[in-house]
Amino acid sequence: MAIVGAGPAGMFLAHLLHAEGIDAVVIERRDRDYVEGRVRAGVLEQGTVALMRRLGLSSRLEREGLIHGGTNVALDGEVFRIDMAALTGGATVTVYGQQEVMRDLFDAAEDRGLSIAWNARDVVLAGLDGARPSVTWWQDDVEQHLDCDFVVGCDGYHGVSRTAIPADVLRVFERVYPFGWLGVLADVPPADHELIYANHERGFALASMRSPTRSRYYIQCALDADLAEWSDDRFWDELCLRLGPETASKVTRGPSFEKAIAPLRSFVAEPMRWGRLFLAGDAAHIVPPTGAKGMNLAVSDVTMLGAALTEHYRERSNAGIDHYSARALSRVWKAERFSWWFTSVTHRFPTMDGFDRRIQMAELDYLRGSPAAQRTLAENYVGLPLEMA
Ligand code: APR
Ligand code: PHB
Repeated sequence: MAIVGAGPAGMFLAHLLHAEGIDAVVIERRDRDYVEGRVRAGVLEQGTVALMRRLGLSSRLEREGLIHGGTNVALDGEVFRIDMAALTGGATVTVYGQQEVMRDLFDAAEDRGLSIAWNARDVVLAGLDGARPSVTWWQDDVEQHLDCDFVVGCDGYHGVSRTAIPADVLRVFERVYPFGWLGVLADVPPADHELIYANHERGFALASMRSPTRSRYYIQCALDADLAEWSDDRFWDELCLRLGPETASKVTRGPSFEKAIAPLRSFVAEPMRWGRLFLAGDAAHIVPPTGAKGMNLAVSDVTMLGAALTEHYRERSNAGIDHYSARALSRVWKAERFSWWFTSVTHRFPTMDGFDRRIQMAELDYLRGSPAAQRTLAENYVGLPLEMA
């Protein structure tokens, strides 16, 4: 097997295949420090935690992960809590940064002798529609070549794998949102022991965390916002305004050590298999970060793909790999729907008029008062099962 990309999708798949005794090489354009250093979301669904346990990767997660049975929504400063555990029969999420997940995946990969080709330039896929595909790349000025049974494109939104699918086969679906998120990390205690998603007239804000001493905060910003114009003081002032006085009184300010702007996008590419190429994770789909589904969705893709490939090698059955694309897409679209919905009801859109704003307020007011609406949010937030009947 060739796996292109050593992000969460590629590394979880590499561990899954290794556990089944299936040979795989991970081919990654950058080095470990770069991949591990990227700051991303940090909320793990129960299925992601379960996979880390199953793969023997969870010892630090059990010690350091923060288990959250609830989450909070604020409408113009008024906070209400959604008791996810009570609404879902005990399900929780675990707050543990993607950077920590990557460190655990890479440390275990070294211990277990997984094969990763770092700094691979000019990756080219060939023969994907035949019986014996291959991957070539350049490493330290030497050309490398790998013949394999299958190629898995785990190379993210900007990767090469998706572009190998012929244009008359590939269909893409997309929404680009007219704003971004300005995110900050600071070594100060979080405002609350759980997350707070805030809809305010001035725009969305999110209070999150990495640990009891490290906070992660976001505010919605203009797409062309200039980081240089966002001093720490301006950020804290705007954040506190949007979270409202009750939460603002619990915000501890401090110097930020990371500050960046990210655009928001919904994107799905279909199908997720073509010939002997499979796509998984961001190579096939992007969600806006509201609800933190990105990494969890990569994990559910490779959980399905790992099982399908195991069935192929162990039982000589292609049923799993033949169904992979449809199975994965059915879950992907539900996560797309949830992330789009949660973004739509919490952000300020530049085209919004008074009617739109009142519909948004009614939606969140309904959520505040209706256990049925809360349950819908909760079951999506903790992660839908791999298959829904
Ligand atoms: N050749 C080799 N590697 C490549 C190439 C290429 N041409 N293009 C991209 N890559 C590598 C990138 O350097 C990156 O390490 O593929 C990896 C893709 O990783 P992610 O973008 O993290 O994608 P994925 O593993 O699907 O992650 C899904 O985790 O990082 C988050 O935002 C992401 O939430 C999403 C989730
Ligand atoms: C984060 O902590 O980075 C985070 C949490 C929840 C989200 C998005 C990001 O919905």
